[in-house]
Amino acid sequence: MKIKKLLSIILLASTCAVSAQTFTVNSPNKKISVSLQLNAAGALVYNVNYKNKPIVETSNLGFKINDQADLLNNFSILQVDSSNFNETWTPVWGETKTIVNNYKEIAITLKERGEKPRILQVVFKVFNDGVGFRYHFPEQPNLFHFVVADELSTFNLTGDHKIWWMPGDFDTNEYTYNTSQISEIEKLAKKRDGAIFTATPIKGAFVQTPLMIKTKDNVYVNIHEAALINYPAMDLKFNLSTFEATSTLANDAVGNKAYMRAPCSTPWRTIIISDDARDIIASKTILNLNEPCKLTNTNYIKPMKYCGIWLEMHLGLSTWDFAGGQSASDAGSDGKQKTKTKHGATTENTKKYIDFAAKNGFGGVLVEGWNDGWEDWFGKWKEDVFDFVTPYPDYDFKGLNAYAQSKGVGMITHHETSGSVTNYERWIDSAYRLMGSVGSHALKSGYVGKIIPRGEFHDGQWMVNHYLRAIKKAAQYDIMVVAHEPVRPTGLHRTYPNFMAAEAARGQEFNFWSEGNPPEHETILPFTRLMGGPMDYTPGIFKIKKSNYYPDAKEQVHTTLTKQLALYLTLYSPVQMATDLPENYEAKPDAFQFIKDVAVDWDDTKVIHAEPGEYLTIARKAKGTNNWFLGSITDENARDLNMDFSFLDKGKKYTATIYKDAADASWDKNPEAYVIEKITITNKSKLTLKLASGGGTAISIIAQ
Ligand code: NOJ
Ligand code: CA
Repeated sequence: MKIKKLLSIILLASTCAVSAQTFTVNSPNKKISVSLQLNAAGALVYNVNYKNKPIVETSNLGFKINDQADLLNNFSILQVDSSNFNETWTPVWGETKTIVNNYKEIAITLKERGEKPRILQVVFKVFNDGVGFRYHFPEQPNLFHFVVADELSTFNLTGDHKIWWMPGDFDTNEYTYNTSQISEIEKLAKKRDGAIFTATPIKGAFVQTPLMIKTKDNVYVNIHEAALINYPAMDLKFNLSTFEATSTLANDAVGNKAYMRAPCSTPWRTIIISDDARDIIASKTILNLNEPCKLTNTNYIKPMKYCGIWLEMHLGLSTWDFAGGQSASDAGSDGKQKTKTKHGATTENTKKYIDFAAKNGFGGVLVEGWNDGWEDWFGKWKEDVFDFVTPYPDYDFKGLNAYAQSKGVGMITHHETSGSVTNYERWIDSAYRLMGSVGSHALKSGYVGKIIPRGEFHDGQWMVNHYLRAIKKAAQYDIMVVAHEPVRPTGLHRTYPNFMAAEAARGQEFNFWSEGNPPEHETILPFTRLMGGPMDYTPGIFKIKKSNYYPDAKEQVHTTLTKQLALYLTLYSPVQMATDLPENYEAKPDAFQFIKDVAVDWDDTKVIHAEPGEYLTIARKAKGTNNWFLGSITDENARDLNMDFSFLDKGKKYTATIYKDAADASWDKNPEAYVIEKITITNKSKLTLKLASGGGTAISIIAQ
């Protein structure tokens, strides 16, 4: 039910100075309270308390505007509106069947004193588990086209808290995480990892959001943003002695941040708060701060598992480019040298994957390296590399789409833009039309490398607009989008549910060709990157060590095999890849059974254990069924977690198939050792989950 009550208080006229007025808004459950005050300088400042203790102390709200005075001080209050909101909505896909959107709102309209006053509105929404605030610039005579030189929002934290963070960088989020006190940020800012091609870390105490924080009183706080539209992404700059973070927006080539035209709004700045880490993971506040679904047709939007021609290239077993693949040759039976292609995306190889998908109930097959141009890409960074419509001569684009559909499988078309975004925009209509003409309803896009035109950053306003333009354009052609290397998500999948997932963090791929992701990585991602939306992490690796393919190789996945299974639950996405090679799954059909069974769309989700950087257990109820799937993971420390199944239906029996680390398993020494056990459980059952170092447990819980 929707209840919207609007109270409007028209305050004093702008000529009258108003001093030290305070407005307080409590969350519906009264745990969180926000106070707003117009101080003596005429600046609006805010505080946030949780259970009557300060979380954010007096902090600023305002802007630096090019060629104008700062929009920060010298305001009087023109109007105050407050309202309550409570509704329950149903997502097209998601972690729960319905979502409650319940908050109290206050909107304060500020008017500058003096001649030519500018008007700024600040809106706060206070939810049971967090706060969102944003700025609105109403239509007005003295502010029309303007350029934001920076946003001056601050988050004045109460002490030298523990944080999980990566360095500020407007071009990439493919870093591992640091865990430290705030005061240690600068000291620890990690060296650039050679495998992050676009890394441009910002010098100084800069961090990216979503930023995960834990106070000395064990209160968890997450700072991020929601509904990032027509505006750059926000990093945070810390003052290392006061622990105050100030917003820093991604700039363009000439240093400007955002080009605005009133009426317009900024994204929401979000502060999620709880003394129970599980509430942070379960929060729906970022989604709730986004607009309801704007798509009229959502029939083609289908969560799915997929496999594809992907890992073989990352392992170097085959090539993306056609020409490189042709250089491999073999002696034929007649003794003459014959060309043996190493090119991955051939018609024959693709059919093998389509058959594998059909046999195992996967909805999609991804093929990378199908289109002309890969020879000219990496390291050359030319502008006109790909046209996204010309297949290589050994790839039957049309025929393979028809073949897949005849088997109930959809092809996921890959567009590596190579960062050459103006080129991509030139081709986008033809490329999506071609996909439509063959019935390919899913796209994986990618933005590796510096953005062309040069000077734009992946996280700047220009690129933020591009990613959304591509999502909206895809919707016109009934296409679902999974984007790699875009700006980090901010809940826009509520408004555009064809935006299924993004990478926008350090995915599994790093394990195959770099120092990789440490065992703690997947226990931090849900508290950071995933706060904004699903991630295409690509779980499910069974052959953990690269030495299986190349005897001297040192690279490996930094988990056990059963932790790879658990990731299907703990790293939420409505599209999940069965990433390993078909033959590696066929060699272990008992463990593969979990990947075949696990769902990707859910009626309910329970976060059972959670501590950032340490462990996470999540159980989810598969859409339209009485079946549950559970994943539990740990960092490099082996640990026992006590599991009770009281969330199951009373009086019902379930068959639990438990996929767990063998007693002598560990991510480094013995990662592929697992045990599978089948037992009957009820809502009264209790179990100790024994997780190996870097390990995990996955359980399918099927109603009898
Ligand atoms: C990086 C992406 O993350 C990966 O999935 C893809 O295979 C390569 N780029 C090539 O486009
Ligand atoms: Ca990537």
